[in-house]
Amino acid sequence: MTERRRVVGAEQIDRASRRGRKFIEILPGSIVTDQARDAAARLGIELRLGPLDRPAAPQGDGGAALYRGLYRRHPKWMPAFPAKGRNATRFRKLTLIGAGGVGAALAQLVFNRQLTEQLTLIDLVPGLAESLAMDMKHASGTSRQSGRVDGGTDVGMAEGSSAVVVTAGRSRSPGMDRSELATANGRIVRSLAEAIQSTAPESVIIMVSNPLDEMTAVMLTATRFPRERVIGMAGTLDSARFRVALADTAAVPVSEVDAMVIGSHGAEMVPLLSLARIRGQPLHRFLSEQAIADCVAATIAAGGRIVELRRTASASIAPAHAVLDLLEHMSGRIAGAVPATIALDGEFGLSDTVIGVPCRLGTRGLIEVDEVPLSESERDQLHQAAAAVRSRTNQ
Ligand code: 2OP
Repeated sequence: MTERRRVVGAEQIDRASRRGRKFIEILPGSIVTDQARDAAARLGIELRLGPLDRPAAPQGDGGAALYRGLYRRHPKWMPAFPAKGRNATRFRKLTLIGAGGVGAALAQLVFNRQLTEQLTLIDLVPGLAESLAMDMKHASGTSRQSGRVDGGTDVGMAEGSSAVVVTAGRSRSPGMDRSELATANGRIVRSLAEAIQSTAPESVIIMVSNPLDEMTAVMLTATRFPRERVIGMAGTLDSARFRVALADTAAVPVSEVDAMVIGSHGAEMVPLLSLARIRGQPLHRFLSEQAIADCVAATIAAGGRIVELRRTASASIAPAHAVLDLLEHMSGRIAGAVPATIALDGEFGLSDTVIGVPCRLGTRGLIEVDEVPLSESERDQLHQAAAAVRSRTNQ
């Protein structure tokens, strides 16, 4: 992946000054223009060499509005611009359990980005994970990406993993709700939990199997891992879909859209409309209320729509990228908050609930839940989603 060098211009210095900043962080490799240096001297803003030792700013997910909101609330946390590459580390060993669509796509992303020293693929289907590992190894003859990858059927191969991604389980058929998979996948997740607990007791587990919130809760209970080390992927996927829906509807590049979805990975998704921005502006400057509502509906329906079209499988590429996003946040390659499913411990006024919220992640899993400011209606929706997930989890 090519790293773009960041340019710090006078505009950033002006902005920092308007926000009452005394300094801005300059990351290694950044270019500071002469105008920026002049403005800094004029406005009394120190250019402090980073990375600075504190939680990083949200980047991408949640976007500029979220960033600005947090900046106002927690000035001490915020660099003047989002940081990439902060204290980036590679995983020592990353294991993917499940080599189906998501597992296979994720394996390639992780391998090609050299996110881990050792990649291990496990799937119950004889030959599947092993052949995928072999195939990827052969591909490295073309890509010239060296790396260790192996595959097999034995969950014991997860031994010593720093992180384990679980995609194993049944996926939906057309017309099915994710929650209908709870019984079948719950059994699989419980048996994997036992294996992970004994082979990789220090690992961070990322859950992808559906129904996502419920399966994350099952894994948490069955492993008895601390909540910091059992994380579900969904918000990253739903946020990506929401951004795409907004970008397509507003006819702008998706890079100009910032939006985050929290809540459950299902009908009770909570797109944070109050914080979403297109070109830095609130959504209503670009879209009618109806168009925004259509984008929300399209986001909620997106996974099901893919199942309808594919018939025998669910989405794989976007979920794989969403897991990659979590892993890159954990490894420090991307800074800032990212929506992830986690057991709440009083945050947002919720406890005993496993649900998607903005989180700061590190190599040991959750660092902290980021209690972004929600509108009253978003808070109500989050509480309703939590009640729905709790009732399904406790069934
Ligand atoms: C999706 O939304 C598979 O749940 C996943 O596509």
